[in-house]
Amino acid sequence: MCRYSFNPFHQKNPDWQSTNCDAFTNNDIVDFHKTLKGYKPTPLISLPRLALKLGVGGIFVKDESKRFGINAFKALGASYAIYNVLKKAWENKFGTIFTIETFSDKSSMYKLGEFTFSAATDGNHGRAVAWTARMLNQKAVIYMPENTARFRIENIEKEGAKVILVKGTFDDCVKQNDHDAKLNKWQVISDTAYEGYMEIPNFIMAGYSTIFKELDEKLQFDYVFLQAGVGGLAAAGAWYFTNKFKDNRPKLICVEPTESDCFLESIINGNGNPITTKGNQESIMAGLNCGTPSALAWPYMKDSVDLFIAISDNYAEKAMQKYYYSNESDNRIISGESGASGLAGLIALLEDKNLKKATDIIGININSRILIINTEGDTDPINFKNVIERIKEN
Ligand SMILES: Cc1ncc(COP(=O)(O)O)c(C=O)c1O
Repeated sequence: MCRYSFNPFHQKNPDWQSTNCDAFTNNDIVDFHKTLKGYKPTPLISLPRLALKLGVGGIFVKDESKRFGINAFKALGASYAIYNVLKKAWENKFGTIFTIETFSDKSSMYKLGEFTFSAATDGNHGRAVAWTARMLNQKAVIYMPENTARFRIENIEKEGAKVILVKGTFDDCVKQNDHDAKLNKWQVISDTAYEGYMEIPNFIMAGYSTIFKELDEKLQFDYVFLQAGVGGLAAAGAWYFTNKFKDNRPKLICVEPTESDCFLESIINGNGNPITTKGNQESIMAGLNCGTPSALAWPYMKDSVDLFIAISDNYAEKAMQKYYYSNESDNRIISGESGASGLAGLIALLEDKNLKKATDIIGININSRILIINTEGDTDPINFKNVIERIKEN
């Protein structure tokens, strides 16, 4: 059942001077991404017909399925984190400055030696770590829940990584990875922060800010939908809009599946600390199936997001279909289950009776200009086909 909470911790002008993710203010992030093979800003696609149909002023979709040819946004974070790991290793070893040019130089990288990068993932982050490792001729070991879709596993193996399947949830994979990496002296590249492990997720979150920095500065939005797993992507969006527009920022809406609504649960909990979802973490929105907010993302979300909603899987399917069966002149967008969750959040707010009060209060109407991030394409093509074909049968 869909549910929501407005944010009692919301601040007009949050003071983030003392928060841990100081990497957001690094000025080398976009420049670094520009040096990577296949870099192009992802398109911002306007869907005027869909907006008309849903009764809103405009829908603009930043389409991350086009990122680096690997069908999701995640490589922005993994590559920037690995760059910073190698920078630190280089500067410790050689005592000279490591630059973006050093990273691009194969012989310098060879001098630095061998690394094994490891990560826990529901799919996209692991592929991003494996993709970056392969680009650098390094090794990767990736931990995944054993019920992960076969195609997602194969895509990671195709990048040359070793995949280890774990009985349990994403959170169990995080623990197993942490344990094994200590034993084997691997470098963990985790997108979630936990006690004793803050530095790297800091760079991952900061890497995602490129998505928002690529937006045309003149464009203005009234609402931004940000889907959250551990919250890195959503925190990057929350940071960007708050930093840029201060108390005049668009209204920020966090979207999660009801099965893994850890941010909503933490907001409802009311003491200002993040807690674990009560859900079973079995949503089809696989990338969002995370039980606990990242400790780094939490303060950004808690201070700046206006509304937290949890939606059921049927809205994700509906959004995938709406993107695919575009109206007249609208562009078709290929969007997977987690990718479509931002649009799914909008549809749920407009259609679900349990969210009606939230929609009235937040005030989405015929004039509202809405930004949504399609964070992935068809990363599970079998389920994608099932969802898309189902509409034909109805
Ligand atoms: C497609 C997709 N969208 C959104 C997210 C959520 O990102 P985060 O875990 O940073 O909140 C993920 C995470 O893996 C994902 O794969």
